[in-house]
Amino acid sequence: MGENEYTKELIAFMQETGFVWGPSPEIYGGLAGFYTYGPLGKLLKNNVENAIRKTFIENGLWEVECPIIAQEKIWEASGHLTSFSDPLIFCTKCNGEYRVSLLIEEAKPELEIGGLPNDVLLKLIEEHNIVCPKCKGKLGSEITQHNLMMQTKVGTDTVAYNRPETATTTYLPFLRYSEFFRKKVPFGIFQIGKAFRNEISPRQHMLRMREFTQAEGQLFLYAHQKYEFEHFDSVAEERLPLWPHKNQKEKLPVEQISLRDAVEKNILKNQAYAWTLNLTYKQFLGMGIPAELIRFRQHSPEELIFYAEDAWDVEVKLKSFGWTELCGVHDRKDYDLKQHSKFSGQKLEIFDGETKEKLVPHILEIAFGSDRPTYALLDIFYDPSDKERKVLRLPHILSPIKVAVFPLVNKENLPEIAEKICQDLKEFVCIYDKAGSVGRRYSRNDMRGTAFCVTVDFDTLENKDVTVRDRDSHEQVRIKISELKETLRKLIHGEIKFKDLKK
Ligand code: GLY
Repeated sequence: MGENEYTKELIAFMQETGFVWGPSPEIYGGLAGFYTYGPLGKLLKNNVENAIRKTFIENGLWEVECPIIAQEKIWEASGHLTSFSDPLIFCTKCNGEYRVSLLIEEAKPELEIGGLPNDVLLKLIEEHNIVCPKCKGKLGSEITQHNLMMQTKVGTDTVAYNRPETATTTYLPFLRYSEFFRKKVPFGIFQIGKAFRNEISPRQHMLRMREFTQAEGQLFLYAHQKYEFEHFDSVAEERLPLWPHKNQKEKLPVEQISLRDAVEKNILKNQAYAWTLNLTYKQFLGMGIPAELIRFRQHSPEELIFYAEDAWDVEVKLKSFGWTELCGVHDRKDYDLKQHSKFSGQKLEIFDGETKEKLVPHILEIAFGSDRPTYALLDIFYDPSDKERKVLRLPHILSPIKVAVFPLVNKENLPEIAEKICQDLKEFVCIYDKAGSVGRRYSRNDMRGTAFCVTVDFDTLENKDVTVRDRDSHEQVRIKISELKETLRKLIHGEIKFKDLKK
């Protein structure tokens, strides 16, 4: 199945099965870039967010929740008002609007355009005769900057914006953190919440949404702590799939490099950044993304976003769109705190016992979200190769529904027993399903990614046991009802494997 065919099949699957609907609202024709999570999609997204929370908390970061809306001055200070924009060009014939980078990338994928100024981009469009992809009309002679922030109004006259990232809002209570952590640096904060970007003609389904959920972790530390980072030694021998920008230029492959080597060879600039990349890797493994589909790609200096001194993206290989950016790890230095200090008039610094001076901490940021990983999980684990029995092979811990319980037939006492068993398994997301043949119920649950199906049959009446069926192997074992909950719990948490039950 080709890339495009697979994408179509995947999106149809998400819609039909109740994972993701849209663009929303569908009865009004849909607004591009806005999507609804159906019941299964919401359960999956919650599982993704719980995995993110768990990894951040295990690594010492604390969660906060800040307002989504902030007044114009904040975005002036952060730089988003002037610099958070995409070059835009119009078609002179149909008035279609295009993000210049995407337009050129699609028409001439061989061109390298990262960081090029607008006049050079315009020349490329002319030289390569790039026309409107919709009507083949001539494109305009001007490129304008389109700011990606969504404006709103607070009260009657205060201009404000929906945040384009959670990060900036995470930085604003800095003085409160300073008190909370008793003026001890480093400390880590994360936030999971909505952000908004007014993308030009968004495509690629959930990968480019105008309203989306970010999950961003921020490590605050003094500049000198980056080079002697207290937690570095515990992760120094971990190996990460790194692709520095020099190797990209020279068309060299991604290499598994230990963090110690990466810092010694100056591939990664300092120990704290290396630790942060490792935490990022743990995040993606924790969300169930297979290691072999992950790589870290460094930005070239021309590509760097305005607030970052160094940046590596996590890219994940999708069946639908190939290698796709799912996360950015940024060294924001002291850029943000200095800017907010200047604009608020408050000193955002802490006394450092080591250097005996007041210092403005630097910030290392892990910027990702829960929408793209949710999409990636569906993309990676949806398996339509058997047309008769399409399966969503999600890791059990992420499956929206963990267990489905069926009566074999709706006779004797079987439905009552099955319902009671289902009630008893409510600590997992467990559903009771009695509609259609058992075969149909199995395939319905395979499509939903349900990890295990439990069937109550006539033998249950006599032996007090049930059949447990594994989604991926289709194998079945008999388990005593009295041992069912504990066995399922161990299977779901990966403490035992299904094949071990057969021994
Ligand atoms: N906070 C960085 C980003 O949104 O990409």
